[in-house]
Amino acid sequence: MAQLPWANWNGAAMPLSDVQVSVLDRGFLFGDGIYEVLRVYDGRPFLLREHMARLRRSLAEIQINANAQRLEQRMLEALRDSGVQSGMVYMQVTRGTAPRTHRFPQPTVAPNELIYVDVIDVDPYAAYRDAGAKLLTVKDIRWQRCDIKSVNLLANCMAAQAAVEAGCLEALLVDRDGTITEGSHTSIFAVRQGRIVTSPLGPHILPGITRGLVVALANRAGIEIVEQPLRQDELASIDEMFLTGTTSEVLPVTGVDDRPIGDGRPGPVTQRLVETYADHLRDWLAGETE
Ligand code: PDD
Repeated sequence: MAQLPWANWNGAAMPLSDVQVSVLDRGFLFGDGIYEVLRVYDGRPFLLREHMARLRRSLAEIQINANAQRLEQRMLEALRDSGVQSGMVYMQVTRGTAPRTHRFPQPTVAPNELIYVDVIDVDPYAAYRDAGAKLLTVKDIRWQRCDIKSVNLLANCMAAQAAVEAGCLEALLVDRDGTITEGSHTSIFAVRQGRIVTSPLGPHILPGITRGLVVALANRAGIEIVEQPLRQDELASIDEMFLTGTTSEVLPVTGVDDRPIGDGRPGPVTQRLVETYADHLRDWLAGETE
């Protein structure tokens, strides 16, 4: 078993603790880079194609010319060499190392590519899956391209910290006109009269990979799902809420700002989706779905 977390830094395999990065890396100086997080089950990266498509899109949107195919190969090698069965993969590409100027370096420099693999041996969210999570509403002060999975996460970090300080698992981001966008690192769904409501895709949210899978699973299960904005002032009238994310999977939300959602317990539609998600994962592990 390799020393964990196990990394690949610009093509060289090594323990993560051996990676050395220049302080002139543009990710370090400007947050000029993008990333992906994948979940690994039974040594296999879940939803690989979808994550790689989003990584390619993020790269294209900020004009970083990296070889995503090569990155994927290195990631698979790192995963294999790590010996990790249950875990996660982090992939990050920054614009590279260059003297500090706001404009992109001229001539272009090679991107810096980091991959690392680590183990997740116990589900960190197990307790919340049964009891449900509490959220804190926080003003969404992020930029207007939240669809890009940029490493610029200061506003997300501040929101997550505010939530923890309030004894909550996650922040519920609310934009200036009172619309709920997403969590600090999760996608948000509500259930009203048996229908699921989630924010439509656009520049104000990340197109969550887990969100995409849950939308597809709900459609397949015949649960109506509508993509429309959800407002903070509608929270009192919704029956259920849940969040999704690569590491959170599907997690019931039972309270927001000290007020219960519905009857304050994980609801039936949410529970059905938790089970549908687990079934899908089981089928994928058994090789019965792509
Ligand atoms: N976060 N929204 C935001 C702002 C996120 O950062 C994430 C993921 C999600 C959920 O997306 P997905 O289902 O593709 O994981 C939604 C990752 C896990 C992170 O930053 O660690």
